[in-house]
Amino acid sequence: MSWSPSSWRDFPIKQQPEYKNLDELKAVEEQLKTFPPLIFAGEARELKSQLAKVAKGEAILLQGGDCAESFANFNATNIRDLFKVLLQMNMILMYATGKPVVKIGRIAGQYAKPRSSDYEEINGVKLPSYRGDIVNDIAFTPEAREAKPTKLLEAYYKSAATLNLIRAYARGGFADLRAIHKWNLEFLQGNDLENKFEELADKITQALKFMEACGINPDNTPQLKQTTLYTSHEALLLPYEEALTRKDSFTGEWYDCSAHFLWIGDRTRDIDGAHVEFFRGIKNPIGVKVGPTMRPDELITLIEKLNPENELGRLTLIVRMGAQKIGDIFPPLLRAVKNAGKEVVWSIDPMHGNTYKTSQGLKTRDFEKVLSEVKQFIQIHKAEGTIPGGMHLEMTGGDVTECTGSISSGITEELLNSRYHTQCDPRLNANQALELAFMVADTFKDLQK
Ligand code: PEP
Ligand code: CO
Repeated sequence: MSWSPSSWRDFPIKQQPEYKNLDELKAVEEQLKTFPPLIFAGEARELKSQLAKVAKGEAILLQGGDCAESFANFNATNIRDLFKVLLQMNMILMYATGKPVVKIGRIAGQYAKPRSSDYEEINGVKLPSYRGDIVNDIAFTPEAREAKPTKLLEAYYKSAATLNLIRAYARGGFADLRAIHKWNLEFLQGNDLENKFEELADKITQALKFMEACGINPDNTPQLKQTTLYTSHEALLLPYEEALTRKDSFTGEWYDCSAHFLWIGDRTRDIDGAHVEFFRGIKNPIGVKVGPTMRPDELITLIEKLNPENELGRLTLIVRMGAQKIGDIFPPLLRAVKNAGKEVVWSIDPMHGNTYKTSQGLKTRDFEKVLSEVKQFIQIHKAEGTIPGGMHLEMTGGDVTECTGSISSGITEELLNSRYHTQCDPRLNANQALELAFMVADTFKDLQK
């Protein structure tokens, strides 16, 4: 079956906004098509080869960032703090397991959101749902909720500027291991996690001194002062993704150059739907969310459609069942994939199956449930002799109060209101993310015994 960047238009599509002015949308798409790609196809291929290592158990995947990036919170502090906490988690996981960590941010383009309902009703007023800043605004007014095509351009510019800063941090000395003590965030100072991270940083500094004495230092070994943070988002708004899909001049293949890695959400993974059609033709490494309603036969058909050549590193299955369900639902899926000989990276999203609403109406997640789902995921793999590749988190480098629990934060439902800033789902704050990394690192380490 032939494929083109626009062939998805002939398939049924879900979760798209209704634009009033289609001529304006068309004009924006035409403009985006002339803009430079945000990533180079060679980088996407490099990430695919890194993910092939994850699939083989030679590296660990860490994917994380906001549920929804927002235009209002677009600033250097947020980008820097997420970068810092990902670097810290990278060190924690790497030190415990002795394996490199492949880092992918939910960043520089995570602007489109699927919603459980097309409309939101408050006090008898019904308006279209907020679908992310690339579509409309979060304020509950008719004007704010109207889908505006020009927001695609703003999303592009903001993604470009975000990516620019990420590249600068990654290459410009920020990630230099000699600066590891500076990665702690101000609000961590004095707490147990800070001490735990400082201990780790001391050990790494000792190791660096030893290597320096052997003649290996950041000046002659750039890996010690540089890193790579790849970008990713849910490729939900297909007019935007199509406009940034470009033919690679080296290979003649199509890449979605809006990010290195794209994923399909649990609500738009229909085998005969537009999203799967779009994804089958792009050569980037891709992901699919695997929720509790997925059936084993359906999963195999999906894998065959998205990765017909069974290429290692091409497809990441992001499991999100919930701590209560994963034990029953995941093992049959895992066995089906193993028995069919399909090469995939298995990652765990312990966020989306563990969301609930408090009596005050705030969406939250309990740290214990999040941790439990990750641990169960790793243990199920251990029992089946397969490889738990890594994890996919909604998190921020900021000091927010959106998820409850954890020893370091101790956030109760009553405290959630104090710094509840998310545009969409509740994120782990920096303390909770670090605590999770320390605990998960131990579970990954036990796996090697
Ligand atoms: C998300 O990752 O923000 C999301 C909406 O996830 P899912 O598709 O798994 O519900
Ligand atoms: Co979310």
